[in-house]
Amino acid sequence: MSPANAIYLAAPGFEHHLAVELGRLGASRELLPGVWEGPPPRGEEGDPVWFRNLWIQPEILTFGSVSEAADLLRKRNGLWVDHLVGYHRRGQLIKNKLPAFRPKPLVFPQPLPKAQIGGWTLLDENTLLCSAQTLSPFPGGVARFAHGDEKPPSAAAGKLQEALTLMRHWWGVFPQPGEHCLDAGCSPGGWSWVLARLGCRVLAVDRSPLDLDPETYSQVRFFQGDGFKVHPRRLRREGWEPVDWVFSDMAAYPARVWEWVKLWLEAPEVPHMVVTLKMQGEPDWETLHSFQRLTGGRLVHLYHNKHELTWMSVHSS
Ligand SMILES: C[S@@+](CC[C@H](N)C(=O)[O-])C[C@H]1O[C@@H](n2cnc3c(N)ncnc32)[C@H](O)[C@@H]1O
Repeated sequence: MSPANAIYLAAPGFEHHLAVELGRLGASRELLPGVWEGPPPRGEEGDPVWFRNLWIQPEILTFGSVSEAADLLRKRNGLWVDHLVGYHRRGQLIKNKLPAFRPKPLVFPQPLPKAQIGGWTLLDENTLLCSAQTLSPFPGGVARFAHGDEKPPSAAAGKLQEALTLMRHWWGVFPQPGEHCLDAGCSPGGWSWVLARLGCRVLAVDRSPLDLDPETYSQVRFFQGDGFKVHPRRLRREGWEPVDWVFSDMAAYPARVWEWVKLWLEAPEVPHMVVTLKMQGEPDWETLHSFQRLTGGRLVHLYHNKHELTWMSVHSS
């Protein structure tokens, strides 16, 4: 394995997409099903995105006994999450000798713990593939949130909780009480529910109705219509105040979303943005690359994403 390379763990169900992305970069190979060695991301167009986690400093270590394997890992890090693809019995014996790590689901908006979490697997009975550093701040790339006192109107709430938790972790940016948000494609209401509970004021738009009690969530203003028709020029024309955040989970072609996002990027006051790009069949690679070319943003496959990606962006004031 080249020491300059990283290890990509494919997002389950999207192994083919990762293989296409790494195939374009060359110098990559599949070490185990869904576990790829390849060039690390450069923060550029063409970086792979369809992965669950990335191991940043991979090492291949040979060992004789289970205790020796556990010692090798313990020396490098305190917290480990395994990604066993085979050799499960031997892997379990190694796990039993490592400090117990049973991460609890986060209670949103609780911030992520700062601890560095490593990842490991077995290439064979006597060979560890491990990395003390991994890209995802969630254990093994799995973002779990505890259900609180109230169930959100849709499971999509988890997607936004994950995105916002990452934005605060990477950039220290998080929706503040009183901030003004546009939620395009809001129905049935998971994202508006998350934002309202953070104390934000929400302009929620969808062709379908919103399933949120207007009395409990009085700071959410819903109107039924086309989200693409809400853009900065219209806000100004109609005397609405500018928005601090733009959210879109509209079920629409990525190329259409791209044209709409560009309107917001050209606005005098560029908002922070969280935008889902929904794919049908083969991903729209061209549009994905357009999003990757933008500075100040990141395109990722969230744990909560299905056949879609999430673009998150912060504006610098
Ligand atoms: C995945 S759902 C959104 C779920 C929502 N974020 C939540 O948390 O409950 C996608 C939504 O996009 C809406 N949609 C699709 N095209 C739209 C458009 N042009 N304008 C407004 N809404 C649109 C659909 O009506 C649908 O409700």
